Amino acid sequence: MGQNFKMVAKTLFGFEDLLATELADLGAAHIEKGTRVVHFEGDSGMMYKANLACRTAIKVLKPIHSFHVKNEKMLYQGIMKMDWTEYLDLEKTFAIDATVFSEYFNHSKYVALKTKDAIADFFVEKMGKRPDVDTENPHLRINIHIAHDTCTVSLDSSGQSLHQRGYRQMTGYAPINEVLAAGLLLHSGWFGQSDFLDPMCGSGTILIEAAMIACNIPANINREYFACMDWACWDEDLFEQMRELLMKKIRDYDFEMRGFDTNPKVADFAKENIEYAGLEDYIKIAKQDFFKSEKVKEEKLHMLFNPPYDERLEINTEYFYEDIGNTLKKHYANSNAWMITANLEALKFVGLRPSRKIHCFNGALEARLVKYEMWAGSKRTKFQNRGEDNKVENKAENNTEEQASE
Ligand SMILES: C[S@@+](CC[C@H](N)C(=O)[O-])C[C@H]1O[C@@H](n2cnc3c(N)ncnc32)[C@H](O)[C@@H]1O
Repeated sequence: MGQNFKMVAKTLFGFEDLLATELADLGAAHIEKGTRVVHFEGDSGMMYKANLACRTAIKVLKPIHSFHVKNEKMLYQGIMKMDWTEYLDLEKTFAIDATVFSEYFNHSKYVALKTKDAIADFFVEKMGKRPDVDTENPHLRINIHIAHDTCTVSLDSSGQSLHQRGYRQMTGYAPINEVLAAGLLLHSGWFGQSDFLDPMCGSGTILIEAAMIACNIPANINREYFACMDWACWDEDLFEQMRELLMKKIRDYDFEMRGFDTNPKVADFAKENIEYAGLEDYIKIAKQDFFKSEKVKEEKLHMLFNPPYDERLEINTEYFYEDIGNTLKKHYANSNAWMITANLEALKFVGLRPSRKIHCFNGALEARLVKYEMWAGSKRTKFQNRGEDNKVENKAENNTEEQASE
């Protein structure tokens, strides 16, 4: 076991609890939730596991220094004082990402530029030369976070955002982000307990993430590169050990997963992505109109989907969302149907009352994840006198949960 150090995993709005649970399951210590971040501690093995396995993490950062800043001079001096030869040499390239939440600084790009200048000047002063910047594929990605008057300098162990899992080759017109899809599935309580359907599957992201959760396949097992592979302390043997440890936890899934899409081209994209992810034994895709479909088995069905919002895909919102409600009501008894939409007005056309409503964002769009419970033997949703199960489930929710009875 190596020495423990502090780390920060970034996530999406409302996913902090999910990520904290994922990190705890992987063995992280001293977990603390923040806003869109989770702080934790662990050794290099923990850092490799977090990158490989966390479904709801966007990046895993390793803070290396922090200092007070109130102006650009203090920023420049604080960065210059660090010993950058520990992390960089003249043969390596670097890039800076900056985020700023401060009354002293307005522009994150300017902060990134000043940091770059300070690192370049550090090397010129010491060695007469400076390493190059490469914003696309640097050897070292440095993260600067300024909150009020505190500047935290971190090394980015992930590189490209962790939503880039490495399985998606083809996309439809409005693909959902993989981290968002995984977080919505976890919010819905999905762990592989039944058949699953995404009735508007597009390029298949929700289905692939659902299958990976059901089989406990590490989220980023298909990804070839993490930025920490270029660090001086990179330990390939330890990374392989962690990879094998996670692979041993893969389990089988004994139910069926299906996806529909009316667009044949997009349905083919889904098939290609599913094959690329090696999940074709678990997921079947059909070129099928959801509104002309029926549930095929009596057993419980778990559904999660993102229908068009009329943002990027044009629809007649009123009829479309009404059709969703009618199809669920008439043909999908004994299902839990979860749907994310950023078209909040459209929800009223569904004509069913959601038993859960979770506040979230799809990119910049404010959205809701809603749950419709379709009960067995009845063509109605049960929305009054909800059972004890739901009361227990709702108690555990964080403040992203809204009153479902609005
Ligand atoms: C927002 S996209 C889904 C994107 C998908 N989650 C992904 O990651 O690629 C909505 C999809 O619904 C499909 N669609 C629209 N109406 C449909 C219907 N009646 N039945 C099945 N699919 C439909 C569209 O072709 C589109 O691919």
